[in-house]
Amino acid sequence: MTLLKLTGIVKTFPGVRALDGVDLEVEPGEVHCLLGQNGAGKSTLIKVLSGAHQPDEGTIEWAGSTVQFSKPTSALRAGLATIYQELDLVDDLTVAENVFLGHEPRQFGFSSRGITRRRTRELLARLGHAEIPAGREVGRLPAAGKQIVSMARALSHDARLIIMDEPSAVLAHDEVENLFRVIRDLTAAGVAVIYISHRLAEIREIGDRVTILKDGRTVAVNLPARTTPTDEVVRLMTGRSVEYVFPPRSAAAPEGTPLLRVSGLARAHEFSDVSFDVRAGEIVGLAGLVGAGRSEILETVYGARKAAAGTIEVDGKPLRRGSVKAAVAAGMGLAPEERKSQALLLGEPVYRNVSLASLHRFARLGFVQRGRERDAVGAVTRSLDLRPADPRRTMRTLSGGNQQKAVVARWLVGGSSEGGSLRLLLLDEPTRGVDIGARAELYALIRSLADQGVGVLLVSSEVPEVLGLADRVLVVREGRIVREAPASDLTEAQVLDLVMAGERAATAR
Ligand SMILES: Nc1ncnc2c1ncn2[C@@H]1O[C@H](COP(=O)(O)OP(=O)(O)OP(=O)(O)O)[C@@H](O)[C@H]1O
Ligand SMILES: [Mg+2]
Repeated sequence: MTLLKLTGIVKTFPGVRALDGVDLEVEPGEVHCLLGQNGAGKSTLIKVLSGAHQPDEGTIEWAGSTVQFSKPTSALRAGLATIYQELDLVDDLTVAENVFLGHEPRQFGFSSRGITRRRTRELLARLGHAEIPAGREVGRLPAAGKQIVSMARALSHDARLIIMDEPSAVLAHDEVENLFRVIRDLTAAGVAVIYISHRLAEIREIGDRVTILKDGRTVAVNLPARTTPTDEVVRLMTGRSVEYVFPPRSAAAPEGTPLLRVSGLARAHEFSDVSFDVRAGEIVGLAGLVGAGRSEILETVYGARKAAAGTIEVDGKPLRRGSVKAAVAAGMGLAPEERKSQALLLGEPVYRNVSLASLHRFARLGFVQRGRERDAVGAVTRSLDLRPADPRRTMRTLSGGNQQKAVVARWLVGGSSEGGSLRLLLLDEPTRGVDIGARAELYALIRSLADQGVGVLLVSSEVPEVLGLADRVLVVREGRIVREAPASDLTEAQVLDLVMAGERAATAR
């Protein structure tokens, strides 16, 4: 029997028809993948399903009967659990308190902290993460740990369907393998999973069937996940037919004094002996696993972390250690990884968010020229296909991938940093959560910045992206650079071998 059947779901927000007739069918024990471009309506659909939003039209049938979940707890009680794209845990509570929030196990009528912790430990062990302390405050866990807690919470409700909205976006490579192992255990036990991801390789590995959304509508249902050709999937989603499109590299290798020279950089427990150059007009990629130290290197170059040893020079002049001000004055900009906490003003309109870095360009005689600001922002957001296109919208109402585009767009608007013109751009996972179509536009914009003479230092966990976009690649493993080569001299397999070598050695021990 079909576990879940959605028919003709419609959901509108003021000015946006987010869902415009969605159909979806999920069988027990399958991994059903939901694909679609940024803003296609995936997250909205699962919020409707989980009772966080009420649909305007359409029906939801759950285990054979028509239902309406008025709030998330009703869906949970019925056996439908959701792991949101923006995790919804309470940072101040412990792991165990989060897992059993609202349904604490009781003994003789009293909730018992002992039982709660023991059951939490059992769930964490089942998820392959017995090392997470049940009594630890959730706010102190890394993103991957938080996600495991979210999964434990889903399991604590004996869910029959678990919805995962881009779970792999915050995970390291080995963590994704572990997630897939957990998913296989769940489906073997008859639990169904709705899996959302922008990475087709993952869909092939873990998915059974695929439903594709485009502009709030279902455009294909129940495609076989493993055998449907990539060009067909991509075409259904975007109207294009290739997965990765990279702009051509400039013919001449950049010459002259390096714009950025990093020598012997180190920070305790993070990285050591890191030395490299970035020339004007060059894109240098840092490849490696999440946790290898790449973001830490970037943040140290930017002065947000203070180096314990080593030097950073821009144009041959040493930068003051641990000073963001000095880095910005030297023309650096950073698009950080954790967009929600570090980079976004969620309550402000899109154009304010995008123009933050280049405010002075729009300021004349002390006040900001709103019209010019909006025009400049409009040009970049249109080329990135930011949706909805109206830059007056509040940031919070944008889909996850569109928020990411806005953060990166900030640096692409005229490319200036506060201190003057932008000379060196540090990009940490710029395409995380960004769909296949918009990625190509983002790559083209990054390359055109480089062609204008900006040096780019790029961190990405997607090896094809580093190899396709960068001129030169540094492979980072456990805080050290283990290989440096022109991107065209490396293959994906070689890079994966290099980044994984340490892990294999660890497993063999
Ligand atoms: N609370 C809201 N108010 C107004 N508009 C909203 C709200 N939530 C979502 N939207 C709009 O609904 C559309 C669908 O967004 P949704 O978050 O479902 O996309 P998505 O498919 O999950 O995209 P992504 O891959 O970027 O996560 C977007 O145009 C978005 O801006
Ligand atoms: Mg989403």
